[in-house]
Amino acid sequence: MTKKIAVLAGDGIGPEITAQAVRVLDVLVRDGLEVQTESALVGGAAFDAKGDPLPDETLKVCESAQAILFGAVGGPAYDALPRSSRPEQGLLRLRKHFDLFANLRPALVYPELAEASPLKPDLVAGLDLLILRELTGDIYFGKPRGIHVNDAGEREGFDTMRYSESEIRRIARWAFEAARKRNRRVCSVDKANVLETTQLWRDVVTEVARDYPDVELSHMYVDNAAMQLIRRPLQFDVIVTGNMFGDILSDAASMLTGSIGMLPSASLNASGFGMYEPIHGSAPDIAGTNRANPLATILSLAMLLRYSLDQEAAAVRVEQAVRKVLAAGARTADIARPGEKVLGCSEMGDAVVAAL
Ligand code: NAD
Ligand code: IPM
Ligand code: MN
Repeated sequence: MTKKIAVLAGDGIGPEITAQAVRVLDVLVRDGLEVQTESALVGGAAFDAKGDPLPDETLKVCESAQAILFGAVGGPAYDALPRSSRPEQGLLRLRKHFDLFANLRPALVYPELAEASPLKPDLVAGLDLLILRELTGDIYFGKPRGIHVNDAGEREGFDTMRYSESEIRRIARWAFEAARKRNRRVCSVDKANVLETTQLWRDVVTEVARDYPDVELSHMYVDNAAMQLIRRPLQFDVIVTGNMFGDILSDAASMLTGSIGMLPSASLNASGFGMYEPIHGSAPDIAGTNRANPLATILSLAMLLRYSLDQEAAAVRVEQAVRKVLAAGARTADIARPGEKVLGCSEMGDAVVAAL
């Protein structure tokens, strides 16, 4: 049976980068992969056309698909809209709707790119770190939240950090299971010295660890973790953390690999349905100029092939094509060193397609 992938390009550089991933997919289809794509609107593009960042039609397309390939959403034109109309809500609602609680953000340093990191090459060479970010809870979704006028008569903003035991337990299990397939080390990142929610996080992760005596568990406060990621990133194997800390730490970790344009992600639920997207945003500063790095999106497609379509060979083929173009010196502006030849987004797509 031909499987369907919903393609949600979104805003800014979203259409440019997803177009390159779809070209890669087209090659695989030409070679026999039984997959079809269906595009749908999301984010600001959907708000402009339908008045809603996640229209019902889009949700239907996603529900009828095996997986979602997502570009990026957002942009300054939408920042003054009421929150429920903003592009980012389209993304957050998709994550919640499909219960995509497990967000895998692997930071891998390709040997060819060790020089592209702002850190010294020997600090990052060989890095293979998995950030496992909880994606459907925390201060992102906790209630109450809002802006009101307080008793002193001034405006006051408030959000609620919230995690239930079961939410923590299921992401902790993911972390230990993932570590078993890797180097058997889990570092749980929290702020248990200050925040009750993350004290519970630490307690529950420690309880779950009893079922995994073969995996080494450590705990780290988030401020120290941010520092340690830069000081000695090779100490980490799997980092498991909540929604907000994971958002911030993964952007920081992306620079270890050379650029945020290199980091893919998979967001999965308990039944294996997934959404796949680069961790970066819509990059309004370079949108429409063919300067974006499409590799994070192409590598997200590889994760889609692996986790949602069970096409390991095709996933490896895509990853190897990326390695090959990097080894051959193909560089978009974000990963180029001074004086190096710079490719545009579509030319990087050409290179990967040729390398397949
Ligand atoms: P951003 O990730 O869009 O951009 C940060 C910086 O990184 C910019 O200088 C940008 O040019 C650069 N960059 C990002 N991706 C790149 C790529 N593939 N190649 C080369 N350079 C790249 O973050 P921001 O500027 O804080 O946010 C811009 C908009 O994107 C906001 O509306 C934000 O809400 C949204 N956003 C969306 C997502 C998503 O859709 N998943 C993620 C993050 C931010
Ligand atoms: C990401 C983004 C999103 C997040 C925004 C756009 C809602 O920054 O995917 O990392 O904060 O999760
Ligand atoms: Mn982010």
